[in-house]
Amino acid sequence: MTTRYRVEYALKTHRRDQFIEWVKGLLAVPFVLHSQPTGVFETRSNSVQQMAAEAHRRYKEIMRDVEGMIDDHIEHQKDNTHGQSKLKLLVPTIGTFFTRLPLADAFEYQDKKRFISSRRFVPPSFNDVRLILNTAQLMGLTATGSLDLATFDGDVTLYDDGQSLLPSNPVIQRIIDLMSNDTKIGIVTAAGYTEAEKYHGRLHGLLTAVNTSTVLTEQQKNNLIIMGGESNFLFTFDSSSPYLLSHLPRREWILPTMKTSWLQPTITELLDVAESSLRECVQNLSLAATVLRKERAVGIIPTVPDYKFPRESLEETVLVVQKKLEMSEVGRLLPFCAFNGGNDVFVDIGDKSWGVLVCQNFFGSRGKATGEVDEETEAILGERTLHVGDQFLSAGSNDFKARVVGTTAWIANPTETVELLDELVGLIGMKRKE
Ligand code: IMP
Ligand code: MG
Repeated sequence: MTTRYRVEYALKTHRRDQFIEWVKGLLAVPFVLHSQPTGVFETRSNSVQQMAAEAHRRYKEIMRDVEGMIDDHIEHQKDNTHGQSKLKLLVPTIGTFFTRLPLADAFEYQDKKRFISSRRFVPPSFNDVRLILNTAQLMGLTATGSLDLATFDGDVTLYDDGQSLLPSNPVIQRIIDLMSNDTKIGIVTAAGYTEAEKYHGRLHGLLTAVNTSTVLTEQQKNNLIIMGGESNFLFTFDSSSPYLLSHLPRREWILPTMKTSWLQPTITELLDVAESSLRECVQNLSLAATVLRKERAVGIIPTVPDYKFPRESLEETVLVVQKKLEMSEVGRLLPFCAFNGGNDVFVDIGDKSWGVLVCQNFFGSRGKATGEVDEETEAILGERTLHVGDQFLSAGSNDFKARVVGTTAWIANPTETVELLDELVGLIGMKRKE
């Protein structure tokens, strides 16, 4: 690797979303041409409203063009030539689209909320584009049918990092609203515990609210599961259990590939490589860290409670461990996820693509058993699934992996999750009225 390349890679690639950056770049042109910063002191220039209207028109045209390019990419996906789509040439990291993205309408919605076109000094930002994409995803999902499965990350998505889902959390009501529409819910979190008590501790606000809800039927209440340790521990809601959760033995839910290739000696070997690599980083970066080895994960946490690791050290550790595992033989035998959890680094066996996949299959096969869905249905489809999370950068992030099995929404904090769910419930309501 040349130094230049290394600097570019280390500083940029894993910390940028290429598609969002590309859209931002396209929107920067009309911003430069049409925004009128001199309007602040010049009376001759057009009124703010005129400028905003012109910028709005241009931004929306661009979003419509991108929307068309995504449609073209989806057409290519259908005959397996998506590697040749124009979008793929322009944004090589682009993945699979499970639904259309009505970007022009989504822009219209977010512009009313964020006044993007009225800004004269600040161009359309990363967050503007991220939120437009989220809205477009919700519109795309609800336009074509029901939302059968919503999965949520825990930390930062449902509650602040390291905290718990308390009864006062406004997200609870929104999740119950979704459940009352028969949407299945999976909490797909990296937090890996083997005891129901620990998950009850983290999620009791939601569990108690579901248990005491008078809106939900008994069947709907059972549509809540927790997938812990990315894809390692499955708990189902159970009103008869003291912690409102039942642990489901692995043999009852693991997928065929997991059964054949996630073998204990391979798991131990991968965790051994990860652990020695983490220990090396602790030493090289002089981190005040304790190494925590678990059944299906290994991580580093601060040795003293209030100690904050430097962000750079966390990122460095993730990238070193990830590279080490990618280069190892065992790293090719087993999926794993190395990520920066805010003030810790963990390597988990499996990842959230497997976690969401298990949820899709679990509800699919249970629906088949109860006659709730037709015989043909094996699993809930990606286009009927939404995963909401905060970690979508390509390296060191754990929600990113969920993108290969379903649609996703990228939020920045728990308040945004609440706003997103309000938007979603609104769209579902509008669809009902049609
Ligand atoms: P998430 O945002 O819900 O996926 O949770 C991630 C956080 O869970 C991490 O930052 C860790 O602090 C915590 N955690 C606890 N146990 C584990 C584990 O076994 N693997 C990964 N993260 C864990
Ligand atoms: Mg998170």
